[in-house]
This record gives sequence, C-alpha cells and structure tokens, in this order.
Amino acid sequence: MSKKTVTITDNVSGKSVDFPIREGTHGPDVVDIKTLYGELGYFTYDPGFTSTASCRSDITFIDGDKGVLLYRGYPIDQLAEQSSFLEVSYLLMNGELPTKRELEGFEDSITRHTMVNESIKDFFGGFHYDAHPMAMLTAVVGSLSAFYHDQIDINDPESRRLCAHRILAKMPTIAAAAFKKILGEPFVYPRNELSYAGNLLRMMFARPSEDYEISPVAEKALDQLLILHADHEQNASTSTVRLAGSTGTNPFAAMAAGCAALWGPAHGGANEAVLNMLEEIGSADNVPRFIDKAKDKNDPFRLMGFGHRVYKNYDPRATIIRKTCHEVLDELGMSDDPQLELAMRLEEIALKDDYFVERKLYPNVDFYSGIIYRALGIPTEFFTVLFALGRTPGWIAQWEEMISDPEQRIGRPRQSYTGAAKRDYVAVHKR
Ligand code: SDX
Repeated sequence: MSKKTVTITDNVSGKSVDFPIREGTHGPDVVDIKTLYGELGYFTYDPGFTSTASCRSDITFIDGDKGVLLYRGYPIDQLAEQSSFLEVSYLLMNGELPTKRELEGFEDSITRHTMVNESIKDFFGGFHYDAHPMAMLTAVVGSLSAFYHDQIDINDPESRRLCAHRILAKMPTIAAAAFKKILGEPFVYPRNELSYAGNLLRMMFARPSEDYEISPVAEKALDQLLILHADHEQNASTSTVRLAGSTGTNPFAAMAAGCAALWGPAHGGANEAVLNMLEEIGSADNVPRFIDKAKDKNDPFRLMGFGHRVYKNYDPRATIIRKTCHEVLDELGMSDDPQLELAMRLEEIALKDDYFVERKLYPNVDFYSGIIYRALGIPTEFFTVLFALGRTPGWIAQWEEMISDPEQRIGRPRQSYTGAAKRDYVAVHKR
C-alpha cells in the first residue's frame, strides 16, 4: 500500500483522520475508508456506487473515458479478433492465456459437463408455453443447486473448479431447452464433437425430422458475441453474484441471482429493449420524435442501447459488434436490413444532438447485438439469455476471486435512516 493518504476533517468535532490510499494497476487510486465509522462515526453515502469500489479485482479493467476494456490485461478487440469464447473463459477464470495443452484439457472438461440431469426436463414441463426465457433460465440455473448441494465445498478449490466447469458447460444446454420450450419442439442433446457456439446453435435449431448444418458465419459471430459479453468489472449482475456469494450460498444459487439482476432493461435486458424500441420507432422519419421523447424529462422513454455508467465514450464492444453486424448481414445477404438501417440513422442523429453529446451518451454493447441475434434467427425475448451465457465466465471468475479474497467478509451495506423517529405503540381504539 502507498504511503499517500487522504485526510478527512470533521468540522463538527474538529477531529482529523488520515485514510490510506491504495494504488491499482490502472484507473483511479482508492481511499481505504474501512475505519471511517469507527474513527469519525460517519457512514459514506453513495447510492448507485458511482464513487465506490466494492472490491479489489485482477480480472477486468474499463477506462470509461478512453473506451478501453481489458480482460486480464488483454484488449477486448484483440481477444474478439483472435481468441475463442472458451479460451477467454479460461483466461478470465485462471488469469493467464492457456497453453495449447491447457486449452485442450479445459475444452474437454467443459464438453464433458454439457449434459444436465434428465429430471431437469420436468422443470420445463411446468412452465407455460409463453414463459419468458429469462424466467426459465433463472429458475433452472438456480435448480442446479438441488443436484449438487451435498457435493459442494466452497472452501475447496477443486470443488469450486468443478462447480465452475459445470455451470459454464450447462448454461447453453439449459438456455437451448428454454428456447425449445417456447417453440414447443423436443429438446436437443449436446454433441461432444461440436464447439461451444456450434453446440448452442444445434441445440437451439436442430429438429429430429431433418439434418441440421451449423452455419460457420453464425458460429463465428455467436462465439465473438459471447466473448464481448464475458465480463465487465462490477456491473449490477456481477455485484449481485458477489454479494449473494459472500453469504457462502451455493454457487449455482449465486449465478441464478446474477441472471435475475441481468434481466432488467437498464442492464442486460437492454438488448431486447433495443429491438422493441426500433420496432416502435418503425422508420427513420420517426427518429427525431423519439429523440425528443428520450430528452424529455417527463417522458420515461430512454434511448435503449445508449449511455453507460462507466463509458463516457463509445463502448469498445459496440464498435466491434457494429463491424460484425455489417459483416454478418452482408454474408447472410441481409445488408439492406431495415432495422440496421434504422439503428444507424438513430445513432447518427443522436451523436450529433447536444443532449447526448453533453451527457456523453454513446451506443453501448446492447445497441447492435440484437440486430445480429435477430439475423441469426434468434427471437428478441431470447437476447438476454445469450447475454447471460456470455457473462457466465465473468460471474464465475468474480465469484472465485471473491471467495478466495482473504479480505472477504459478508457484504452488508449500511444506510442513512430517514424514517419516523422512535415512538410508542398506540392501541387501535385510540388511533
Ligand atoms: C449494460 O454496468 C455495466 O458494465 C453494464 C454492462 C455490462 O456489460 O455489464 O455494460 C451492460 O447494462 C449496458 C447498459 C444497457 N442499458 C441501456 O442501454 C438502457 C438505456 N441506458 C440508460 O438507462 C442509462 O444510460 C444507464 C442505465 C445505462 C446508465 O445510467 P446512469 O449511469 O445511472 O446514468 P443516468 O441515469 O444518471 O443518466 C445521466 C443522464 C441523465 O440525464 P440528466 O438527469 O443528467 O439530465 O443521462 C440521461 C439521464 O436521463 N440518460 C439518458 C440515457 N441514458 C442516460 N437519456 C436518454 N436515453 C438514455 N439511454
């Protein structure tokens, strides 16, 4: 820890206390205020955690002003162009890029855990045909706790590693089963000779009545989209996984909590909301009216896929997805896709508007991803499920880092109480 400190002086008591500064590798240093309450009797107040570091982490770094995203120090554009989702998952979970032998061993382990207990099929039988796939994913991921709860020792690294591999391996199988439930089609089992993305596509789209051929374009695009969603510092769903995991709960239950948090339209649900928004806007002629709605404080409408708590520049993932979007649609013969045209027009107008420029609101990861998913034949309500699949190695890596942190304690925020002052009970006949 550096010798630098920040002094807080309480003008009421006149007491001054020096708090140590901790330096990181990149980004702002942090003031360690763990002893603030004990020294000065105050809590800090930071709803939304805009200025609060909840942990130290070696996993991912974002420079919001420069639009930089690093996974274990490697720039996201290099990984998106040159790596694979399972290699990136290994990197996030283990801290280093694997050797060829390590990668083959990891891929083999994940492949061998893709099956789920056959009784999980019964869970899907309980859902109505129009159940939202995120509701099904959240429920069934949490139900994995019921199968392994007596085998998990979260204090044993090997037990944690097995849990991690099971979660990463089974998410696509569960996600595809939710997709088949919606379609009313039979579930498709994973195949060990296929890639992670190829298996997912086949489990989603294959039918017993005909052969299914995996599109290399779709397989590559899906693998890249999973890479781009793999981790993102202490976002809402990752913070949820950490907080849930800090109680010592079953890791499958903590991941289910992450799924629940991700579903929100302000977070991972935004990719679905973007396509719904584009449908609502309809044509480029209507864009100015919707831009005005987004700027109107009395109108709850926001430009979905725009803005970010950390990025005050173009989300680097959006830059890559925008490029992939054009490539995929061109290769699929859909380059004149009206939704893409509309999205590009919306982006062009918004980025010239003072309201968005002043607030540094740029397209984020969710703005273009849905257009690719739709081009691959994936329905809008399924987009967030794919976000959850991508984010799974990040959740696992962050959960593992939290559990292994010697400073780790149960997360238990305090509050500023603004309710009624202490008062005595009044019997009902006297009220
Ligand atoms: C993800 O945290 C992560 O890392 C998340 C994520 C990940 O990988 O995990 O990157 C994934 O969640 C991306 C974000 C997806 N959400 C959306 O696209 C929904 C639309 N975006 C907004 O809801 C909003 O921008 C947030 C939620 C993303 C960020 O909200 P903040 O940081 O709380 O920002 P804010 O609400 O304080 O907005 C600041 C100003 C406000 O105006 P003023 O009060 O200053 O006048 O900008 C305005 C907001 O009204 N604003 C928008 C806007 N986003 C912010 N106005 C119109 N449209 C928008 N999209």
